[in-house]
Amino acid sequence: MKHPPAYYADYLQLDKILSAQSPRSAEFGKPAHDEMLFITTHQVFEIWFKQILHELDSVREMFLGDYVDEKSIGVAVSRLNRVATIQSALIEQFRILETMTPLDFLEFRDFLSPASGFQSVQFRLIENKLGLKRQARLDFNDAPYDKRLSEAHQALAQRAEIEPSLFDLVERWLERTPFLKFGDFDFWRSYKEAVERMLDRDRETIERNPTLSEAEKIQELSQLSRTIENFAALFSEEKHKEFVAMGARRLSYAATKAALLIMLYRDQPILHLPFRLLTALVEIDESLAAWRYRHALVVQRMIGTKIGTGGSSGHAYLKQTIDAHRIFTDFFNLSTFLIPRSALPELPAEAERELGFFYGSESLKK
Ligand code: HEM
Repeated sequence: MKHPPAYYADYLQLDKILSAQSPRSAEFGKPAHDEMLFITTHQVFEIWFKQILHELDSVREMFLGDYVDEKSIGVAVSRLNRVATIQSALIEQFRILETMTPLDFLEFRDFLSPASGFQSVQFRLIENKLGLKRQARLDFNDAPYDKRLSEAHQALAQRAEIEPSLFDLVERWLERTPFLKFGDFDFWRSYKEAVERMLDRDRETIERNPTLSEAEKIQELSQLSRTIENFAALFSEEKHKEFVAMGARRLSYAATKAALLIMLYRDQPILHLPFRLLTALVEIDESLAAWRYRHALVVQRMIGTKIGTGGSSGHAYLKQTIDAHRIFTDFFNLSTFLIPRSALPELPAEAERELGFFYGSESLKK
């Protein structure tokens, strides 16, 4: 054997982990039984945050270069799905903490001040590495989000803001998608024509529907005109840029087109893994929003409308972050522009062939 025998407790460094629960209530002579649960729960969350960061860093690494090997996409999808699975487990674990009553929490809450989950640097790293931007964050007592972190933690959080986030890297990768044109087939032009045909058909269906009154027709046509406006904004790069400037959209125009191609033609073998990758990002963002909501409920249950130990408005602040701190919203909103499979432009034989499995990474490099 080339390596010395391992011993369970040493390998897992259990001496460190199991001696790291030091309730402050006992330290200050007022032992509160439930503080142990409070500490354990936070520590378990933080260890899982570490695992999430490990997965996110490895996926970011795969997307850093100018070329992403197709083989990595499958691995990236598995790792991102793992992140989402961990998130589900964490959301479920709030239940354990809720076996502590609000009154039991009050026994030791004062000893925590002014520490707060707001100072969890790993949580900030997860947000920043996924792609949450400083300017998109809610104001926290009119101070930047990292003001309450130690200097060392501020440096870590700020470095993660400068490095390309998963959002940036996936956006660049989408912008490089080579499948938007095949010979005479131009995806964007064909898709636009298909949308126009579909909307024309919708208008005719409303106008010719004998069961609708004139008033109902006017109402349905006005709804249809809103859909038409939505699509018109999609087909105008200028309009798209305006939306990006206003903060209503974030994903670049080129990346949006590629993401739509992937969503619409996901049944094509070569686009299936990219589709699963975009779906995994949606899943992670959704789980993060669900985590925020679940945490906000726990907070309301424990402290009602009291301010947090970190000084925020507590439940009210946390509830606002659910919407304000979403990252991959553009990928959710792609569904607005999906059209039924039956209305999709048919791919020419050449494109069908190229999107088949034989289109390997070697041919992409050329
Ligand atoms: C009794 C249970 C809990 C209470 C009463 C509570 C309370 C709060 C409050 C009030 C805030 C807002 C900042 C502040 O003013 O302090 C906050 C933020 C936070 N808490 Fe908790 N928390 C609890 C459990 C947890 C657990 C188990 C975790 C897991 C690590 C956690 C992680 C966080 C994080 C990451 C933030 C920052 C959220 C953001 O700014 O978006 N909290 N918590």
